[in-house]
Amino acid sequence: MDTKIIKIDKSNIDKKLMIEAGDIVKSGGVVAFPTETVYGLGANGLDENAVKKIYEAKGRPSDNPLILHISSIEELDDLVEEVTDLAHMIMKRFWPGPLTIIFKKSRIIPNIITAGLESVAIRMPSHPIALELISLSGVPIAAPSANTSGRPSPTNADHVVEDMYGKIDMVIDGGSTGVGLESTVLDLSGEVPTILRPGAITLEDLKEMIPNIIQDASILHKDVTPKSPGQKYRHYAPKAEMILFTGDIDDIVNKINTSTKELILSGKKVGIMATEETKDKYEDGVVIVSGSRRKRETIASNLFKTIRDFDHADVDIILAEGVELDNIGMAIMNRMTKAAGGKIINL
Ligand code: TXA
Ligand code: MG
Repeated sequence: MDTKIIKIDKSNIDKKLMIEAGDIVKSGGVVAFPTETVYGLGANGLDENAVKKIYEAKGRPSDNPLILHISSIEELDDLVEEVTDLAHMIMKRFWPGPLTIIFKKSRIIPNIITAGLESVAIRMPSHPIALELISLSGVPIAAPSANTSGRPSPTNADHVVEDMYGKIDMVIDGGSTGVGLESTVLDLSGEVPTILRPGAITLEDLKEMIPNIIQDASILHKDVTPKSPGQKYRHYAPKAEMILFTGDIDDIVNKINTSTKELILSGKKVGIMATEETKDKYEDGVVIVSGSRRKRETIASNLFKTIRDFDHADVDIILAEGVELDNIGMAIMNRMTKAAGGKIINL
């Protein structure tokens, strides 16, 4: 299949090109597009055949449900059974933005979207290109992250092209995404409001409005079965083995330095995922900076790109610095834990 790549400036959107993209979605095709979190792989969420193409392009297991993306709150009514007062409050505060809410689904939602569940995940993104695409296509857009299943989510169009070229109809190149980690997934369909996947809207942010909120226990523990079907799969995997180090940052740096020396002696090419504050303390290895420990949003924003950069550097093993678990740190550590396949050394 020919994949058309178009460039769109998000502050000066080319309407004609966007209409072409919207028409592809309308007629059952697949278009990758930027959101404020990561790139999505979009198709008409009410068209079973179109949604099938998403699963095929990603190689995604069919028991992993998709998020429906809308461009205005009015579009929600047809898609869900009820919107509680709490859900209204949360949407008013955080939409459009990097928050997905799980509702009880309405009858018009195809089974392929929910993988047979009685609930449906919905998000209103804030990225102007995403909003324009949804509104022009006139349907809710089903969109998982636009990576091959298991790989790091794409945060720029090159990543999408790397995984999807020849498999989908169009890629909208709208530059780098910003937040860099997928949306927070908040389940409001059950008794107790629960975070199923941490993101840039943090537990601390949500607690202000939902004092009884809890986090799914699987978020940092790989042996607990997650409530969100997608969370059980190996994710964000670099080509190389990855080991995550947590604890006091000086201990982390010392341990990574000694481990690097040993690994190099045994013939390995070692990558070090460092931060602005620590980068000059490493003596050997391929050092790539993910961001600043003082402004962890920068680490979130670059994390998936950094993992892909290590792939391109052809390292055999990646030694990565962990961060504190509060606020955005929870989302970063959730992705890093998965990328490391649970290989964590607590110092
Ligand atoms: O930021 C994002 O959310 C991006 C952009 C493109 O919007 N999308 C994204 O989609 O990350 P995906 O498919 O990669 O992740 C969706 C997550 C999966 O973990 C899936 O299992 C969960 O949401 N999910 C979807 N529907 C669900 C449901 N009804 N109940 C529980 N979890 C659900
Ligand atoms: Mg994904």
